[in-house]
Amino acid sequence: MTQAQEAILLVGGKGTRLRPLTVNTPKPMVPAAGVPFLTHQLVRARAAGVEHIVLATSYLAEVFEPYFGDGSSLGLHLEYVTEAEPLGTGGAIRNVASRLRSGPDDPVLVFNGDILTGLDIRALVDTHRSSGAEVSLHLTRVEDPRAFGLVPTDDTGRVTAFLEKPQTPEEIVTDQINAGAYVFRRSVIDRIPEGRPVSVERETFPELLSSGAHLQGMVDSTYWLDLGTPQAFVRGSADLVLGRAPSPAVPGRCGDRLVLPTAKVAADAKLTGGTVVGEGAAVGEGARISGSTLLAGAVVEAGAVITDSLVGAGARVGARTVLTDTVVGDGAVVGADNELRDGVRVWCDATLPAGAIRFSSDR
Ligand code: GTP
Repeated sequence: MTQAQEAILLVGGKGTRLRPLTVNTPKPMVPAAGVPFLTHQLVRARAAGVEHIVLATSYLAEVFEPYFGDGSSLGLHLEYVTEAEPLGTGGAIRNVASRLRSGPDDPVLVFNGDILTGLDIRALVDTHRSSGAEVSLHLTRVEDPRAFGLVPTDDTGRVTAFLEKPQTPEEIVTDQINAGAYVFRRSVIDRIPEGRPVSVERETFPELLSSGAHLQGMVDSTYWLDLGTPQAFVRGSADLVLGRAPSPAVPGRCGDRLVLPTAKVAADAKLTGGTVVGEGAAVGEGARISGSTLLAGAVVEAGAVITDSLVGAGARVGARTVLTDTVVGDGAVVGADNELRDGVRVWCDATLPAGAIRFSSDR
């Protein structure tokens, strides 16, 4: 069976939940396992037979093309379309329609640009073709569906409703959620209203359903993570390094750590749990870093202990400082002997003096 040859990647969101990581860099360009996160998605799409990808850009749009160019180094043909004003997920899909080459009944893949998943993309396209649906959606099961839009299906997989974030136990009618990958029949894209913001999740899908359209769900319970928050982003990067999340784009062998070639790590520093040390970054003597990401040029001084945290590009973490579940923005300096944890976000270029913040006594 022939496969979908083209895809739209939604990469224009502001990434507000991920700030300050997204102050200087759009979410899909923040490095995960040593390369911009988007690289993993592009390479996985290519491996599934996709050749033509249109990137729908908006926030910090100018950084994508200089990095990925025409896509030929990845075996892809990439095009870029920038919205003057953000058009939301549906508006962004409609806005790139003129670049699609598919015929009216052909399948077009659409991916959110912040999902790390082992989804079988070919199986989603096959489900779409065999069901004859107008739109097919990847659904995943989550333990706590309260933070998500629920997508119940009947016993043939046909979508029966789109339910916004459930508030009461009675409203949790399924554990299936929209996983952010779709196949659209091309003609459905052409019918999305033009020139105004549209949300596929809140507007397009519910309207299609109420007009009697066939929307098909495919539950695939492989690895799935929405990298929208700092905690999730750090987890996803570590899972790529550990090999728990599959990607052919990890620049090195999977294992406990990934140290990029230009980084310098002291011989007795301990790097575990999928830690990434980015280009030109440095780790001092006796430092212990677990499940964390150091972006390019970051410096960690001797004896620092970093767990499940991200240290931004060119940022510095002082000697003996302890970071747990913390994000340090690009260029920030956390002086020696600080103790930061529980989701603290140190803003880009901020400076914390030595011994400024602690959760425990210094004695
Ligand atoms: P938050 O602000 O933290 O919620 O992140 P976000 O802006 O990325 O929003 P969300 O996670 O809901 O977006 C889902 C996907 O759609 C992401 O890949 C976004 O890049 C993309 N997206 C969201 N809004 C727009 C938009 O207005 N235009 C384009 N081109 N893409 C968008």
